[in-house]
Parts: sequence; structure tokens; C-alpha cells
Amino acid sequence: MIEAAERIIRTFHSERLAEFQADDARVVWNSRHSQESRFAVLATVGDLTGATLLDVGCGLGDFSTFLRSRNVQFASYTGIDLNAEMVSAARTKYPSETFEVRDPADEPFAAESFDYVFESGIFNFAVPEWESIARQTMRAMFQACRKGIAMNFLSKLSGNENPEAHYSQPSEILSMIEDDLSAHFVLRHDYRTNDFTVFVYKGSYKA
Ligand SMILES: C[S@@+](CC[C@H](N)C(=O)[O-])C[C@H]1O[C@@H](n2cnc3c(N)ncnc32)[C@H](O)[C@@H]1O
Repeated sequence: MIEAAERIIRTFHSERLAEFQADDARVVWNSRHSQESRFAVLATVGDLTGATLLDVGCGLGDFSTFLRSRNVQFASYTGIDLNAEMVSAARTKYPSETFEVRDPADEPFAAESFDYVFESGIFNFAVPEWESIARQTMRAMFQACRKGIAMNFLSKLSGNENPEAHYSQPSEILSMIEDDLSAHFVLRHDYRTNDFTVFVYKGSYKA
């Protein structure tokens, strides 16, 4: 990721980590409910039983605990985050999970290293060259998956205007996905007013 964008994201999250006690606020969500409502949709990308999972921009790693609390019997969970302080806090919170400081666009995984690759909230910041960063990150996520990826975005259709946030037009995201990844996708814009989720599947795989 270009340095200016990474600095904005890293500084923003490091300040939140230092300022807030509640973990949902530390990873920037308005509430535990808003975080979990996104996780609940991401978890429907496919059958996660026995699957290997990568969580890009894992924050404190709460997605792994969300899945465990719903008795999802995945084979492995790996959380990565570009913010070293976030990864250190995640390791303290969940010592038995695997976390790494990594941006998949800068340090790509080998092709098909994981069954499913997820992100929740990594595209929500207004940064320079947002589209180029988003395209590179989505490509890296898609190449790392064997079955599919699940991603969420803040929606422009919500009418919100927080200047620090990046709101995406669903049709523009679908067009990027069709250009760069695959036309084998699902869009969900039915669970919150300010958010949407896209699943993209490898061509040979049926969810
Ligand atoms: C809004 S927080 C959400 C954390 C977690 N996904 C959750 O829902 O609880 C976004 C996180 O993504 C990380 N991040 C943003 N872009 C990233 C990238 N390209 N690679 C790795 N981590 C990234 C940030 O450092 C931050 O910790």
C-alpha cells in the first residue's frame, strides 16, 4: 500500500487503541452489534466447516471468536493486520489464534493458501488512491483463496457523509470485481442501511 494511505490507517487505529477501552470502539465500529451484524453476513459465504480462513485487517481478531461462539468448526483461522499494535493486542486477547503483521497486497500469499478470505472494514477509510489500493487488495485476497472471498464496504446509498470515511457505490464495486476478479459474485445490501457485502467465488467452485 502506498505509504501515505498506510500512515492514515495506521495512525487512526493506533489512536483508537490508545483512547478507547471497549474493543468494538477500538476497532472503529459503533457497537458490538454493528460489528457482529457484519460478521454474521460474512459467515454465510459458504460452508466453513473444516475450512481454512484468512481474516485481512483482523483488528483484534474478533471474527474468530464470533465464529467459535456460533459453533462453526473451521479448520484454522489466521488474522493479519498492517498495524503492529493491533496485532499485538489481538495476540494478548486471543493467545491461541494465529496473527501476523501483513498487508496482503505488499506481501502476497501463495495462490489458494486458504479456502475463504474475509475482510470487515478495511475499505472504509478515505485515503489517497483508494481505488488502486482496493483493487490491489481485492486481487491479493482473491488469489489467496481456493473457494471465495467475502468483503464488506460502507454504502454510498446510506447518504452518510463522514469525511474520514470512504463510502462505496455498490455498482462501482461490482464493476471492479467483474474487471479484476470474476463475474461469479453475490451482493447483499439488505442487513444494514450503511453497509453492503460482496461474495466472490472462484469460477470452478459452487458455494
Ligand atoms: C475497522 S477495523 C476492523 C477490524 C476487524 N475486521 C473487525 O471487524 O473487528 C479495520 C482494520 O483493518 C486494518 N487494515 C486496513 N487495511 C488493511 C490492509 N490492506 N491490510 C491489512 N490490514 C488492514 C486496520 O489496521 C484495522 O485494524
